[in-house]
Amino acid sequence: MKKVKWGVIACGGIADRRTLPGMMLSDKAELVAVMDTSKDAAENCKEKYGAKYAFTKYEDVLALDEIDAVYIASPVFFHKEQAIAAAKAKKHILLEKPVALTVADAEEIKKACEENGVKVSIGFLMRFHGYHQKIKEIIEEGKIGEIVSIRGQFTCWYPDIEGAWRQKKATSGGGALVDMGIHVIDLIHYITGLKAVEVAAFNQTQTFNYEVDDSSNVIMKMDNGSVAYVDSNFNIPDAASVAKLEIYGTKGSIVAHGTLAQAEVGNVDILISDDSLAYDASQARGELTPVSLSDVPLGNMYTKEIDGLCDAITEGTLPPVSIESAIYDQKIIEAAYKSTETKSFVRV
Ligand SMILES: NC(=O)c1ccc[n+]([C@@H]2O[C@H](COP(=O)([O-])OP(=O)(O)OC[C@H]3O[C@@H](n4cnc5c(N)ncnc54)[C@H](O)[C@@H]3O)[C@@H](O)[C@H]2O)c1
Repeated sequence: MKKVKWGVIACGGIADRRTLPGMMLSDKAELVAVMDTSKDAAENCKEKYGAKYAFTKYEDVLALDEIDAVYIASPVFFHKEQAIAAAKAKKHILLEKPVALTVADAEEIKKACEENGVKVSIGFLMRFHGYHQKIKEIIEEGKIGEIVSIRGQFTCWYPDIEGAWRQKKATSGGGALVDMGIHVIDLIHYITGLKAVEVAAFNQTQTFNYEVDDSSNVIMKMDNGSVAYVDSNFNIPDAASVAKLEIYGTKGSIVAHGTLAQAEVGNVDILISDDSLAYDASQARGELTPVSLSDVPLGNMYTKEIDGLCDAITEGTLPPVSIESAIYDQKIIEAAYKSTETKSFVRV
């Protein structure tokens, strides 16, 4: 089978920490070129991952005929320019999340990909966690009944850092919500198939001095009538992080602990009732059967996200994370910031 040949634009951050090690485990991908505005980062990755070329300009990656696809992992404010240039150079694209600074920018990227016939997938890697995929299956089979309530929480410790692009609205698009909460918003849509129709949110900077939110609490009214809560914080210590995803339905519940992560870790409690529940004034818990996920195979989510786009390129399948779904996520983000600004519920 022909391997997909890859170039990496911005190899010095998450690419080096996670995605390139994941790419090395793929038998569908071959790394050809790495690029970073930091020469040291580019040279280091060339050496470490055995790339043929190291560049400091992304245009040099796009000029290589031998490259089929690029992975763009630059700070968010470069996504639009680099993704559109990649599409025009006829390179397929794995673009890191969030897709762009705004919905309007994301729409321009989508248009450029369509006009140039290239596939694009967005880096919502947590969809590839074996447990999340199994939870999705369980929900699709109707095992927890109709979903009535959802809660997700994702946090880290991110203090003031001089010059950090994530801490300025113009370069990041937002704070904890854009960086962390967006994973939860994306997963809720992916796992449950539900979409938000109305959003209310408090986004604020409670602990640090930067201009973006270090605390974000979003409430979404979903299209089946249920309500989802998404909390994201930059001001809870990593050691105290819980990272929980809870989904409750009319027949059961699913609570995932620690699965919102950069590795396939964590555990999941699933309780499912039989179909004959009558009202029980004592609210006994005994009728619920726990479901084990011990047979679910786990691997490397970054390898899977690379393989997913390789398959889309070589076998004509759909990209694993569509840009349309990433634009939906971005609409929620914009609605959440607008809700805080206007102190109102915002329709999506
Ligand atoms: N999917 C995930 O697991 C995950 C995790 C972290 C970050 N991300 C996303 O990846 C992107 C980058 O985040 P990060 O944490 O790696 O940031 P970072 O600041 O740690 O690293 C960014 C890298 O980009 C380089 N760079 C800066 N400007 C550039 C430009 N114009 N062109 C090319 N390279 C440039 C920097 O030198 C640096 O090496 C963001 O979109 C972020 O949301 C995704």
